[in-house]
Formats: sequence, structure tokens, C-alpha cells
Amino acid sequence: MQQRILDPRLRERLMTAEQAAELIQPGMTVAMSGFTGAGYPKAVPQALAARMEQASGEGHPFRIKVLTGASTAPELDGALARVEGMELRLPYQSDPNVRERINAGTLNYIDIHLSHVAQHTWFGFFGDIDVAVIEVAGIREDGRLVPSSSVGNNKTWLDQADKVIIEVNRWQPAALDGMHDIYYGTALPPHRQPIPLTAPDDRIGEPYLKVDPAKIIAVVETDAPDRNSAFSPPDEASQQIAGHLLDFLDHEIKRGRLTDKLLPLQSGVGNIANAVLAGLSQGGYKGLAAYTEVIQDGMLELLKNGTLRMASATSFSLSPAGIEEFNANVDFYSKRILLRPQEISNHPEIIRRLGCIAMNGMIEADIYGNVNSTHIAGSRIMNGIGGSGDFTRNGYLSVFLSPSTAKGGKISGIVPMASHVDHTEHDTMVIVTEQGLADLRGLAPKQRARLIIERCAHPDYKPMLQDYFDRASRESYGKHTPHLLDEALSWHRRFVETGTMRPG
Ligand code: COA
Repeated sequence: MQQRILDPRLRERLMTAEQAAELIQPGMTVAMSGFTGAGYPKAVPQALAARMEQASGEGHPFRIKVLTGASTAPELDGALARVEGMELRLPYQSDPNVRERINAGTLNYIDIHLSHVAQHTWFGFFGDIDVAVIEVAGIREDGRLVPSSSVGNNKTWLDQADKVIIEVNRWQPAALDGMHDIYYGTALPPHRQPIPLTAPDDRIGEPYLKVDPAKIIAVVETDAPDRNSAFSPPDEASQQIAGHLLDFLDHEIKRGRLTDKLLPLQSGVGNIANAVLAGLSQGGYKGLAAYTEVIQDGMLELLKNGTLRMASATSFSLSPAGIEEFNANVDFYSKRILLRPQEISNHPEIIRRLGCIAMNGMIEADIYGNVNSTHIAGSRIMNGIGGSGDFTRNGYLSVFLSPSTAKGGKISGIVPMASHVDHTEHDTMVIVTEQGLADLRGLAPKQRARLIIERCAHPDYKPMLQDYFDRASRESYGKHTPHLLDEALSWHRRFVETGTMRPG
């Protein structure tokens, strides 16, 4: 471990996770590393959770505000949520314990675009950051930090926090050294300059994170794996969704709107996104680039077989098998992957400039193309918006992918009116379900509705949607985006009352 901590000044600050956790006090705002189950601190949050449990057992509730890059893992989100240790959480989460408390109304959750978190912190919108707890792969002689398997908001946390606790995780491959590109050129308005990134493989920063050593109050050694669950093999619906999307990309190439090198790909998280990536590698493409948020297993496969020449992201999100593959071929992958701060991986200016093809999952879309990525029945959070808005709003092509039904057909993924809107009809360009693909570009609302119902709805729900649209087209107060206001959310009400959107 000594080889991972080369700065003698910081070796002197080595202590146990329990000692480091003592430095965090109730009510503090604590910014932690971590993005989609990678690069999160593993020991200090668990020691903190133990302290919180003891304090609350003695009648002294101990809660903090927790900011991260995105979702973490049971050792952080799970541990703190189980002891009711968080009063505020932001930005993205996907932990069942956290979700339960948000939906019970006992944990405040601020779900914002991932590209906004760093600048909102700089603007002061979240108040002062008392402590940052950051996992790194190593500390260099001069005190600069070798980032670990995610970058997320770490640059901002290290800059903005009053005090810093560092976890040095020996489990992280030493070969991560050199794979990161930390850009220090951002500024607050009105002093902002163009970000000089014009191709996904451009390096515009440096490989290491900087921090004032005087702020480091503790260094903790760990040797613990990132935790990510395995992906299920693509099911039939996912393969059909991938098939429709690949046919569409072929069509776009024939129309001359794309070349066979496509444009930089962004792929969301989850099983469907992973299946689409698998489909791309069977589509015969070579030498593509990804400008995305996370590197999933599917991306490693595409890099290996040459479908992708490189991938830029802010984090890994690999299953245990994916981690094994990465470690076994680390020299190959380290030349082809760049990890950046999430304010750069998700930056609207860059996404618009590069012309990304954004491909994300959704909970539901309505007949006009408004998309809900986050809420069940308009009120229960699933995960959060993540980077889907950053890419959808600014991409060259904005695609949403989803099975046409959920929960064994009890729920329709296409509804009369979205019960919550994360992406408006003005941003959504393409919707794909296993039934088919609706290309909404250049269409007015009623044209979009006809196409979405025809191409994307499940046959069990298609007649109901058509009937709603026909009646709305006749009876609606306005005929531009026809709706029946008393009925628009009745499908969701039926689901809440009976457990299904199917009429009784
Ligand atoms: N109503 C109720 N539940 C629904 C639903 C609906 N309309 N649509 C999906 N679900 C449930 C599924 O049943 C499944 O539940 P389970 O975990 O209990 O089995 C869960 O949501 C996940 O759905 P799945 O079909 O497996 O798709 P997914 O893994 O691609 O996830 C999202 C879909 C929307 C939850 C996911 O893409 C997400 O969190 N998106 C927002 C963030 C984002 O887009 N990030 C990408 C930018 S990098």
C-alpha cells in the first residue's frame, strides 16, 4: 500500500476508517466520490453509518446531506439509508433503501441534470461543502491524486470542500493511472471560454486531480471491489428493440444523414442499453466512437471487436465479469478509454458540437412524445434523470428505448399523457419499443400521436390509445395537442387503484 501513497506528508495522515468517520459531524454537507457503482468510498461511509446507528440508539439522530457524482452502492447509499443517516441526497441514485425512504417522504432528494451538479455547487446553490470523501487509486509524490474507476464530480468536491478525506483503494488497477483527463479550464459566467474539445478522443486536461494538501485531514487505506450486478443476457424484447434501432441507423446512412462511422454514441444504463450495444457489434460497424457517461460491459466488447475505436466517459459500470475482462486486458483498454469529470462528459456545449446519438431508457412516453424517465404513476421515484436530459436535449439524435409494456403487461409504456415529464415533446426525436420505431422528427403533435400509437404501442393497448386520441381530436378544448383532461391520467389512476392499466 505504501507504494500507492508516495507523498510522505500524506502518509502521516493515515488512520482507520473509524477515526476518519469521527471527523464528520451531524448536519454536515458531505460530498462523496462515486458514479454508477464505481469509484465510491467504501470504508468511511460504513464506519459513519455505524456511528450514526449508535448515536440514534442513544437518542441523538445523526443525519448529513450527501452529494455524489451519481449512484453508488450498498456500502455508501445502502449503509447510510438503512440507519436513516441522510436528510438530503443528490443527484442520481438507484439504491432500493434510498428509494424507499425518498418515496416514504423521509429523505429529501434533488434530482438534477448530472452536468449541472458541479456548476450549481460553484454557484453556491447547495451551500458550503464541509467535507469531501474521495476514493483514489493512488497519491503521487507531489500530492496529486490518481483518480479511480470514476471521476464524477471529484474535481469540484476537492476544490470546494473545506476538508478532505481520501480513501486509497489498492483493489483499483494501477493501470488506471493515465486514463483520466481532468479539465481545469471551467469558469463562472461571465468569464467562461469555449471548452476546447472538438473530437471524443481529444485530451484537454491532465491525468491527475489536484488538491490543497493542507485540506486533507485523513487518508484511509482500503482494498475493496466496486460492486455492480451482472447484466441479464438480452431478452427477446431487447433484441427486437436493438433490431429496430439498427434498421433505422442503416436507413439514416442510406438517406445520407449519417455516415457508416455514425456519430459519437451515448448509451444509457440498464439491460436494454446493453442489448443495443451488443446489437451494434453485430451490425458490421467499425471504428465508431462513444462520447458517453458510463462504460458498461457492452462497450468493452465493442472496443475489443473494433466496433468502437475509443470511448470517452466519466465512469465505469462493469459487472464482475466485465471487471475481470478489463483487468485481464488493461493495457488494451487503457489506450482506448478516457475518463473525464461529469461536467465535461455531459456538457451540453460539447454534446451539441459533437452531435451525439443519445440512446436512453424510459418509464413511459405519451402519445405526443413527452417522456417520463423517473416516476411511477407521477409520484414514486424510480432512479433519477441522470444524464439522460444532458444528452437528449443536446444530441444530434435523441432516442428513447423501452419495452411497450411493464410488469408482465399490466402497464403500458405508451400512455395518453405522461404522468411526469423529464424530456418534452420538443426534445424527443425517436421512440423505439419491441413493436417498432417512431421517427418524430419534422412532425406536428397529431402526426406524432398517430405514428407513436401505430408503431410503438402494444396491441393490447393500441385500440384504447387510438380511441382516446380519436375522441380527444373531436372533443378537446384545443385541437393542436388534443387531450381529454378528465381522462388523460385515468390509466395511471387505474393502475394505482387496481394494479393494472387494463380496464376491469
Ligand atoms: N411503470 C412501472 N414500472 C416500470 C415502467 C412503468 N411504465 N417501466 C419500467 N418499469 C420498471 C420495470 O418493470 C423494471 O422494474 P424491476 O426493476 O422491478 O424489474 C424497472 O422499471 C427497469 O425497467 P427495465 O425495463 O428493466 O429498463 P431499464 O433497466 O432500461 O430501466 C429506467 C429503465 C427508465 C428505469 C432507466 O433507464 C433509468 O433509470 N433511466 C433514467 C436515467 C437515465 O436515463 N440515465 C442514462 C443516462 S447515462
